[in-house]
Amino acid sequence: MSTNEELIGRDEINDLEAILSIVNTDADAAIRTVADNAEAIFTWDYEKGKRPALNKLYEKAKGAMWNGETDLPWDTVVDQEQVALANAAAQGGIEQGMDLTGSPLAKWGDKEWLQLGIEFQNWSLSQFMHGEQGALICTAKIVETVPWIDAKYYASTQVMDEARHVEVFAKYLDTKLSGHYPINAHLGLLLDDIVEDSRWDMTYLGMQIMVEGLALAAFGFMHQMTTEPLLKQLLRYVMSDEARHVAFGVLSLKEYYAELSDAELLVRQEFAFEAAVRMRDRFMQQEIWERMGVAPKDVLPLLLENPNRLLFQQMLFTKIVPNCKKLGLLDANDGWLRHRFEELGVIQFENLTDTSDEYQAFALGEAELNSQSA
Ligand SMILES: [Fe+2]
Ligand SMILES: [Fe+2]
Repeated sequence: MSTNEELIGRDEINDLEAILSIVNTDADAAIRTVADNAEAIFTWDYEKGKRPALNKLYEKAKGAMWNGETDLPWDTVVDQEQVALANAAAQGGIEQGMDLTGSPLAKWGDKEWLQLGIEFQNWSLSQFMHGEQGALICTAKIVETVPWIDAKYYASTQVMDEARHVEVFAKYLDTKLSGHYPINAHLGLLLDDIVEDSRWDMTYLGMQIMVEGLALAAFGFMHQMTTEPLLKQLLRYVMSDEARHVAFGVLSLKEYYAELSDAELLVRQEFAFEAAVRMRDRFMQQEIWERMGVAPKDVLPLLLENPNRLLFQQMLFTKIVPNCKKLGLLDANDGWLRHRFEELGVIQFENLTDTSDEYQAFALGEAELNSQSA
């Protein structure tokens, strides 16, 4: 059994100094190279529909494609300041419920809080875009490495979906917002770990279950909160694809994990825990504070106790926890992952609906599909 030090590089999960010491060291580079260590697998078993649930997902995906250039109302005028103000109002004010006395934020006025809201949008959409590129790369890898033809077929549709997602987030950032952020260091570490792993199921576990499970929850939160019509529709369309992707992960791994030994499952549980911690750390958003001219270590202890923020952080795990349960990962090895999710304060979501059951609820309706390319 691995120690915290081996899994996440520190003993104490909440060691703020250690968390903040992880920074992006190649932020100015134009590309990043990661060895993917995997063998490409051909299969000679072409029987379509041998795995009916995956086949059904593939048939659905073929009919659910949309066009990021022509199906979204790109002529919408976006006033980013108004959007930031509306978001802050929806949350009852960013600083609500915090005692700022003695902190660098005590002397902030409306101007600084507004700028923080703008940076938050630039940062969030940038991280979504980078995560989408991670999904694009991981899914292309799954096409090569998964041994089942039904899964190769489905994964190929996901590659197209992810290209579209990278495209629309990049376009939104470039034409509607006011600046990019480089990839967050914690997200970058996680994507590297996923891509580097040689085992095909680890790509699924890291990407479809953990990263996309979190993305589905985060997109849902932003979709509900934003009053900006273009972003609302963009997120609605992306979520309709994303729910299928998470279902693809659950359906594929359910079959595979049923055959694994406890020792093999433990490695998967540890990987899920590492991914969960990295994603939680990413939401410390240390780069935003640096850009605002405030040392993250001076404000984060305050923010981490903010009840609104705690709720937001927990909400990010509403898809991940029930999906891990469905895969048998919570309770294997005397509940190893269950205990870790208890420590992270997210175990209460274990009985929510898992995504293999609910993905169809996210599908675009007839009216939405028919209005496309009109
Ligand atoms: Fe995506
Ligand atoms: Fe996806």
